Parts: sequence; C-alpha cells; structure tokens
Amino acid sequence: MTKFWKKYVLWFAQEHVDFRVAEFESIVKLFGLECRHFSDNRLKPFWLVEFPNDETALQYASRSVALRSIIELQAHAKTLPEFHQRLKTQVDTDRGALSQYFNAQSFKVTVETYNKHFTQREKVDKIEAMDYLPLQGAVNLKDPQVEWWYLEFWGLDPTDVPDAPEDIVFGRMLGQGQRHLIKQLSLKQRKFIGNTSMDAQLSLLMANQALVKDGDLVFDPFVGTGSLLVSAAKFGGYVLGADIDFMMLHARCRPSRITQKVREKDESIRANLKQYGCAERYMDVVVADFSCPLWHKSMRFDSIITDPPYGIREATEKVENKSHGKDNTRSPDMAHYPSTSHYSLQHLYTDLLQFGAKHLRLGGRLVCWLPFHREDYNEAMLPQHTHLKLVANSEQLLAGNTARRLLTYEKCTEYSDDSSPNPLPQEPGQDFRERYFNTNGSLESRQDRRMRKAAQREEGRLQMEMRGKIPCDGRAKKCDLNKARFD
Ligand SMILES: C[S@@+](CC[C@H](N)C(=O)[O-])C[C@H]1O[C@@H](n2cnc3c(N)ncnc32)[C@H](O)[C@@H]1O
Repeated sequence: MTKFWKKYVLWFAQEHVDFRVAEFESIVKLFGLECRHFSDNRLKPFWLVEFPNDETALQYASRSVALRSIIELQAHAKTLPEFHQRLKTQVDTDRGALSQYFNAQSFKVTVETYNKHFTQREKVDKIEAMDYLPLQGAVNLKDPQVEWWYLEFWGLDPTDVPDAPEDIVFGRMLGQGQRHLIKQLSLKQRKFIGNTSMDAQLSLLMANQALVKDGDLVFDPFVGTGSLLVSAAKFGGYVLGADIDFMMLHARCRPSRITQKVREKDESIRANLKQYGCAERYMDVVVADFSCPLWHKSMRFDSIITDPPYGIREATEKVENKSHGKDNTRSPDMAHYPSTSHYSLQHLYTDLLQFGAKHLRLGGRLVCWLPFHREDYNEAMLPQHTHLKLVANSEQLLAGNTARRLLTYEKCTEYSDDSSPNPLPQEPGQDFRERYFNTNGSLESRQDRRMRKAAQREEGRLQMEMRGKIPCDGRAKKCDLNKARFD
C-alpha cells in the first residue's frame, strides 16, 4: 500500500541554528517518527517536511525547543504570482477537506516576514491579496478557532536583502514548539544558580540530545547547580549528580546574583526541582571527584548529560594522592603535599568517555560540551571511544576566538573488562585554559608564566635591596617564597 504523506512547515527560532538538525534527528529517534524532508537549505528559519499525519507532527512539536510553530502547508512558491496561483488551485482542489477550517466561527491570519520589516498596513495588504480565500467566520485576534500563517522569507543576509521574497508559504497553524519552557525555566527566577549555570534553552536542547524520556535515569558528574538535571527532570528523567565542590553542592558558595549578599538557607538543587514541579524526580547528589571512580560496575544510566569544567570560571581539579610533594616548598624538611592537582581537559574527556562506555545502557547517550579555540579545531581533537559513536556535533560561538561543541555519543557496543583502554585524544597545541588567558598570543604555558612573574618579583626585590629598601608584610613573605624558589 502506498504511504500517505502530509506536508508541514517547521518555523524555527533563528537561534542556535547549528543545533537544529541534531535536535530534529534526536526527537525523530526518541519517538520513532516517520518523516521525509524536502527543504533544500537547513539554515533557513523554516523547513518543509512530510509526516504521515498531524499526530506525528504534533509529537515532534511536543519536544522541540528550536521550533516556534508547526504549520500544515497549503501552498509554497518562490515568487508571489506563482504562490497565489498555487494557493488558489489548492483551495479549489481541497475545498472539501478545508471547508471545516474556512467555515470556522473565528479565524486570524498571522503575517511573519524574515529579514525584512513590514508595517502593519503592509501586512494587512498581504492578507487582502488573498481575498480569494473563502474565509467565513469572524476575525478574532485573541483567541481564534483557526489560525492561518502567511510567511515571507527574504534571504538570510541582512546586508543583502533581495528585491522580492525568496519563499512564500501559507498554511494552517497546527501547534507550537516548546519555547515557552525557556521562559518557564529561566535562570533569572531560579532559586539556586551559580556562575556557570547552563541557560534553560541549551539545557533543554541537551536533554533532547540525550533522548530523555519518562522514567529514565540521568546522571550529571559535574553537576554544579544542577541546571542540566532541571531540564532532564522536566522531560521525565530521574536525576542524579556529583560534584567535587562541597560548598557548591551545599549552596554555600558565594552568591552569583549581584543583588544577593548571602545565600538563602533553602537554596539547593532539590529546591530547584521543586520550584518546577519535579521534586519527585530528584534522586540525590554526592560530593565526589570524577577522576576517582565511585560507582558500582553494574550501575547503568540511560543518559549522562554534563558540562565539564573548562578552568575559566571554575577550577579543573582532581583530588591528589601523597605521591609528589609541592615543588615550591622552602626546605626539604617542610614537606607539603598538594590536596588537589590540575585535571587536564584531555584526561578529563578520556575519563568521561570511559565512564560513559562503562555505565551507559546500550543505546544510552552521553551529551557533553567540549571547549576549544576555533583556530585549533580539527576532528582529531574530538574524544573517541570504541564503544561510543559520535552521533551529533554542534558548535556554539563563545567570546573572542573560542567556541564549544555539544558532542552527543551513543553507546553502540557493550563494554567488557577486556575492552582495551582508549587512547588520549589528540592534544590541542596548548591547554584551553592557558590559551584562553594568553591574550598576547604567545605560547607560554601557565606554569612558565607563573615562574616568569616570580622571577620578575625577585628581580624587583633585589633592586629594592640595592636601593636600601626592605619590603615588609605580605610582600616580604611572597619575596621569601620567591627567594626559596631561586636560591
Ligand atoms: C561548568 S561547571 C558545571 C555547571 C553546571 N552544569 C550548572 O548548571 O551549574 C563544572 C563543575 O564541575 C565541577 N568539577 C570540577 N572538577 C571536578 C572533578 N574533578 N570532579 C567532579 N566535579 C568537578 C566544578 O565544581 C563545577 O561545579
């Protein structure tokens, strides 16, 4: 039997464009939806797609954060005369099926244009140009029974707007995407937030990438204030988290809102979930260093969603053992062992993928951010694992020449203790943090810079001594330390 397909317009918010395809494909996989594309350019704010029926189309809309509206397509053309011709023909040939909508008691026609502004009068003219539509009911702008959408696309480049629209689309509004959740989960009103809390839109996109569904067990090993747990819980996941920072997990770190002097007593990740009506989805959070494996080997998660530390606004550290003393102790009898040491991104991501390979159920997903310098980026930098397949990779530009990529891995084969350990990913020329703070573009490492500054201070101290000045207080102590380093 030949399959019947219906045409729809997906009208997107033109934000995080690089994430759109990955989100669409994830939702299609999550619900096992059937669909076909017939759009040529995925960067446009609208796509033309086919689903077998309205229910399938609405299922997609029920999860998409990128989607503004989904419209049942009546006509699409590249020029205005062609568009009106096609719409007239469609109305005539499909009059029977469309009559219930044309005869509705009330209706509204929304005119949206992309990359060109029109006045209200001009928009009304566009509606009046479709006076051949047999619309019977009364106009109701607030609560219409049927809403029709007329869309004009005027190219993507605001500096090169064409003389005429490149696409004209008309159809019946079927439903809305989930963009209301961005406001509902906004960090502005959230009980407990920190400097690195992930914004609501990206957190929701991550939960979609992770295919979170009702009853899933979701884990964030670098949980911070739990933003990623919020979105996962909103989509029905039971959530768990871990973080090395005791003060952060207990909401006793410095408040990040400028209007707030001290943290409120009841701030916590659990309070955040309660705020959004997902308290029963909260399992727990634990203080733990990710580099020290904590979980029983039989533990399985449906997904792991995480934003590891980049070392910019929070330290990338791991707990150290007493194997090496600190290199700047003043004398051999003053042994001093560091409690933490630097956790390089290279090792962190290797551990993360290894953890995913071990603790995800087969088919489960690991969704994580990887920061990088745009000029350093190449595919060899992407962490890999034999048991994990990279299924999506979307870029978000950050400040300066930096960016981060949202990587989505899917566990494709079962892990066994015999699985060979994975190699470290190719190291970018220099650690992300070092490059980030290295504003003069030289390739001086953090350690080298520290030593250079210490040498400068020591030089200053010698100069002062020669001029007969003795540094005192804290400065004197620092000079003593420097002296110990260079003597
Ligand atoms: C980018 S933040 C995560 C922010 C989080 N997504 C949120 O919404 O608040 C990274 C977190 O990793 C934690 N962290 C750093 N090193 C760690 C380690 N070795 N083990 C576990 N957590 C660590 C930091 O304390 C920080 O809270």
